[in-house]
Amino acid sequence: MKDILARKSVADFEADIAERGGLKRSLGKWHLTALGVGATIGAGIFATTGTAIVGDSLRPGAGPAIIFSFLLTAVACGFAALCYAEFAAMVPVAGSAYTYAYASIGEFVAWIIGWDLIIEYAVGNIGVAIGWAGYFRELIGHFGLDLPAWLATDYRSAHAAFAQLAAGGAGDATTQYLASAWSGAPHVANIPIIVNLPAVLVVALITVVLVIGIKESADANNAMVLLKVGIILFFIAVGVFLIRPHNWTNPATGGFNPNGFPGISAAAAIIFFSYIGFDAVSTAAEETRDPPRDMPFGIIMSLIICTVLYIAISIVMTGMAPWKSLGTAEPMITALRFAQGPQKLISASRFIVALGAVIAMGSVLLVFQLGQPRIFFSMSRDGLLPPFLAKVHPRYKTPYVGTILTGIFVAVFAAFANIAEVVDLTNIGTLFAFVLVSAGVIFLRRIEPDRPRPFRVPWVPITPLISIAACFYLMWQLPTITWIRFGVWLVIGLVLYFTYGYKHSTLRLKTRRGHSAA
Ligand code: ALA
Repeated sequence: MKDILARKSVADFEADIAERGGLKRSLGKWHLTALGVGATIGAGIFATTGTAIVGDSLRPGAGPAIIFSFLLTAVACGFAALCYAEFAAMVPVAGSAYTYAYASIGEFVAWIIGWDLIIEYAVGNIGVAIGWAGYFRELIGHFGLDLPAWLATDYRSAHAAFAQLAAGGAGDATTQYLASAWSGAPHVANIPIIVNLPAVLVVALITVVLVIGIKESADANNAMVLLKVGIILFFIAVGVFLIRPHNWTNPATGGFNPNGFPGISAAAAIIFFSYIGFDAVSTAAEETRDPPRDMPFGIIMSLIICTVLYIAISIVMTGMAPWKSLGTAEPMITALRFAQGPQKLISASRFIVALGAVIAMGSVLLVFQLGQPRIFFSMSRDGLLPPFLAKVHPRYKTPYVGTILTGIFVAVFAAFANIAEVVDLTNIGTLFAFVLVSAGVIFLRRIEPDRPRPFRVPWVPITPLISIAACFYLMWQLPTITWIRFGVWLVIGLVLYFTYGYKHSTLRLKTRRGHSAA
């Protein structure tokens, strides 16, 4: 027990910092806010809102009441974010929840969080790539290009659409397109071949860029934030004129809140995806001028900005089109497609929104695809994962093996997976990491009350306990199959830890060497 609770000391971390040079404390509260907004807005709002509004075979949708789902999730994220901030400011190293846990709670929990972060980053990026592909198809459509459906979707979507039409159901253009993937796909050994080619290609491209090396720059992030917010404001500005209030109140579709609180909370668990990334703010603690003041401001302000934008988009989207028609991977485009108004304006808006979404989601893909190999890198340097994951390219100086393996993993699943399934798995994994971090705050206040804490979560243990309860509540809303997949993932992680990480941990090897020398 003592062994697996071993902690990497702050001195060890400081040695790591000395090796790579410390970071400059240059970020203020608005820089942090921009960082949060930039890392957060992506496929969640552009793509997964469709399933959240309409629901699927496993759960009800929220309909126009989706705005309450966004509020619910924002509150849950706010509590968790404060807990992240305490850790981030206390452990004086740039890094992820994995690093904080290793320094404070111990190796075993750090391993679980690190393993869990693969779900947040790599699996999350599968969802972003699929969302990106939907908007990309819309974009090339404006140049008269299209892809056969079997090269632009996944098995589950194609089969569901095909079954709906075969059962005599009414199908709109999207359903017919998706169904044509099932009926028109080439077969190999009687198996229809359905591959999301654009999703694979974008991941391949980003992987190459990351192997060659890219500098994250504050200017590029600021430009990206302006673009994302600009596109969203543009959509809202155009959409306001296309609203037909009847779409909110139509008794034939169940009115404003068609599925009651069950619909709202099921949707809250889905759109949690659109908030993932604000924890990136906490990772900049080492570069923040005044963490106790700026950190909570940056986190809470970016959550408020995203929530307001998300709610405004949802109001407009569900006002432009009957909410039942929005269940696609590109709901903002679908809303414009169904809207009644000047066709030239609508077509131009579709183009602008598709272009903005492709760029915005591309930036999320890049950031997450950059983050994953660096987490592998830390875990590998700590001996918990094999050394090849910490290999640095001799010329480009990037962790290329981890980058390429991440690229292959994300691309293969993006080729075949369904966005809703991937998003569910990402959400459960990330929520669980939030639970561990929140519990960690309480735990560490007990065992090390005197450790300096530049930022302190107010009202401990109430705040972390609310965070834990809220995260569990959202996890609870996710389908059983998601829990099973997550359980399998954790078991694989435990097996790997006890067969590999436990034995190769550099921390333990050092301690042992220390003992034998003594
Ligand atoms: N929040 C990120 C997105 O929505 C994961 O793309």
